[in-house]
Amino acid sequence: MTESYEGREQTETKHLILQAYLQSLIFKVSHKSIPISYIDGFSGPWESRAQSYRDTSFGIALRCLKESQAALAAHRKKPLVRAIFCEKNRRAFLELERFVTGFASEDFKILALNDRFENIIQEAADTTADSFRLTFVDPKGWTGFGFEGLSKLGGRNSEVLINFMYDHSNRFFGDARESTKNSFYDVFDDSELSLIAASENRESKAIQIFDNKLKNITGYKYVAHSRVSRPLADRTQFILFFGTNSLSGLEVFRDAEEKAQLNYAYVRAKAKERAEEERSRQVSFPGFSKGVAETEWNMGRAAIRKEVKEAVTKRVVENPTLIYAEHKAELLQQFPIRRTEINKIINELGKAGVIAENWKEGNRRKQVPPDDCVICPNQ
Ligand SMILES: C[S@@+](CC[C@H](N)C(=O)[O-])C[C@H]1O[C@@H](n2cnc3c(N)ncnc32)[C@H](O)[C@@H]1O
Repeated sequence: MTESYEGREQTETKHLILQAYLQSLIFKVSHKSIPISYIDGFSGPWESRAQSYRDTSFGIALRCLKESQAALAAHRKKPLVRAIFCEKNRRAFLELERFVTGFASEDFKILALNDRFENIIQEAADTTADSFRLTFVDPKGWTGFGFEGLSKLGGRNSEVLINFMYDHSNRFFGDARESTKNSFYDVFDDSELSLIAASENRESKAIQIFDNKLKNITGYKYVAHSRVSRPLADRTQFILFFGTNSLSGLEVFRDAEEKAQLNYAYVRAKAKERAEEERSRQVSFPGFSKGVAETEWNMGRAAIRKEVKEAVTKRVVENPTLIYAEHKAELLQQFPIRRTEINKIINELGKAGVIAENWKEGNRRKQVPPDDCVICPNQ
């Protein structure tokens, strides 16, 4: 863990997901030959302790985008990059503005806005209409954005990453006060709040509703999420939702997630070890937390792989005409799993005789099913 994240280790995970995603984004879309826009609706700085804002979303995004743009320039491609930063608080904004404007150049346009995100959505949409854009929504609570507002920043060439503060919200889901219910209005209406509050699994219900709205109101074809737990408790603190219209967007998100969550497994084990050492006044033996992290991580991965295998086995029987791209899209949305792991699972199911190995037949012999290959049960 980087020192500046001590005591807020979960924030590092959020930043690592953003960073790994942005590192791939510019390469992923460079073939489109259109500008790339990044919109940070809730920029901060907020609780930053590192030099040159290395522990803030805007510091991370600016460096990633600059570095990727320079790397592409070496291949004679240099897409125009636009970054829009919005911050409501005047004092934070002045700090933000001073820093971000230093990155501006002819092909790297910066716009810093001291306003509420809700108020700048139309301007951001107009300024970035010709681009591939990522919008990052990272409020402190659950207010300041809505699904309808975000739809103005949607469209085929758009993606969105939203940090939903689940743990904090959960304390208020069943709150009958009008003021609390009104504060949720942009995200969950009264009936949705009641459904969540009454649900046996509030978290799953909230995720299901959020997911549907991001698809049906904001207009994203695919939505995936990543849960980030509290550092010292096995409880979800926030949930990062990702909306995209492309399968490759989902793949990039899952790759970024795995890098960040693996790092967090080590960071959490270390934080728990430190807390235990303080409580018991005994020092753990060297490498203890690393061993714990690796065991827990591997067990977690094995459990997910098992679930995915079961899901595929069931789906091919229920929907024997679906092509591989459709299976991947569903699995990447539903499970924290990478494309490469899905490929392995499909091959294992093929070898085990659960599904027909169509992709190995005739003159199309392939190691992995092509996207248009129909995946059906082995009869
Ligand atoms: C959680 S912090 C953002 C942290 C930052 N994204 C990061 O990861 O480093 C939320 C920021 O949003 C600002 N904010 C709160 N409501 C806002 C709104 N409606 N529009 C824009 N900014 C807002 C707060 O002042 C605060 O600086």
